[in-house]
Amino acid sequence: MSKRLLQTLNGEKTDRPPFWFMRQAGRFLPEYREVRAGAGGFLDLVYNSELACEVTMQPIRRFGMDGAILFSDILVIPDGLGQEVGFLPNHGPKLTPVKNIQDIEALDLNRVVDHLQPVMETLRLLKNDLPDHVTLIGFAGAPWTVATYMVEGGGSKDHAITRKWALTDPEGFGKLMDLLVDATSLYLIEQVKAGAEALQLFDSWAGSLSEKAYHDWVINPAKRIFDNVRRVYPDIPLIGFPRGSGVLYKDFVLETGVQGVSLDYLLPAEWAARELQPHVAVQGNLDPLLLVAGGDAMMNEVKRIIDTFEGGRHIFNLGHGIVPETPPEHVEEVVNYIKGLA
Ligand code: CP3
Repeated sequence: MSKRLLQTLNGEKTDRPPFWFMRQAGRFLPEYREVRAGAGGFLDLVYNSELACEVTMQPIRRFGMDGAILFSDILVIPDGLGQEVGFLPNHGPKLTPVKNIQDIEALDLNRVVDHLQPVMETLRLLKNDLPDHVTLIGFAGAPWTVATYMVEGGGSKDHAITRKWALTDPEGFGKLMDLLVDATSLYLIEQVKAGAEALQLFDSWAGSLSEKAYHDWVINPAKRIFDNVRRVYPDIPLIGFPRGSGVLYKDFVLETGVQGVSLDYLLPAEWAARELQPHVAVQGNLDPLLLVAGGDAMMNEVKRIIDTFEGGRHIFNLGHGIVPETPPEHVEEVVNYIKGLA
């Protein structure tokens, strides 16, 4: 059976747009919360290959998405490098901050691949369990976004410490970014080896940079990672998600040579159809809160997005991750509409 998501990334037009939802594995499903409650800490769940496979499968069983995103997190890279990473209940991630060159030198690239073998086992289990039409999507956080968590010690409003470091000491900060480029490249290559059929690079905080910094810390590292992966797996489809890039989305697409680009919900679909879609498959870009709101507001926007991207390659998705309070019935309504287009 052919896989619509892979076909679209490979340049073909399909009977209906393939669809999946960012952050579909987890939080909004009661069956996830049940597994989560019995698993211990969040990273214990990530490194338990059987349970991680189970929660990856849960949304696929319910909704039959065209893509299954591996259950893991972007912060397994700092964890793999030996930084202390914890997930506090209701608080999000907490890390011992990386502040200077000594802290960077204490990290260890050599332990990443071994440490992350449980994630590879999850991919191998998924490869066996997934229905034929579903594409297995591997992922990693992009260096800029991962660096913001590593440097700030967790989530932050404006990533000011990280941005100041990058501006005042580009050479020192560049060492952290080089390390992340290397670790992320190894990690993604290993994922393809274990069965991932497409890869997405999440740069959730790309939009906090100014133009020059964006080229240095978003486009340049993404290109280096993608080049490293393509050197080993020339045909693996690559999706970038430089959230909040605005008009710089175009530079990102043209300079990295991605097959797919994930659009945030602020980016006007007409602009993306005109400026990006001739070069790349576009993915997106429903506001996740419309999936909470439901009703006509949601369905009208779903239809507008699909109609706007009708002339080219489109993967239906959200413009950012699904939020925990999303009613599964609303997801089902969107899914039924898209399936009905075939
Ligand atoms: O469904 C999927 O997409 C698969 C798994 C996935 C998770 N995180 C699981 C997760 C993916 C792709 C991510 C990506 C991720 N993680 C990003 C980039 C995408 C984005 O949303 O911007 C970022 C910035 C993170 C970092 C992170 N992980 C934060 C800030 C938090 C806490 C807040 C939150 O989102 O819940 C996490 C924890 C996390 N990662 C959870 C899940 C299911 C919730 C933890 C729990 O269940 O206790």
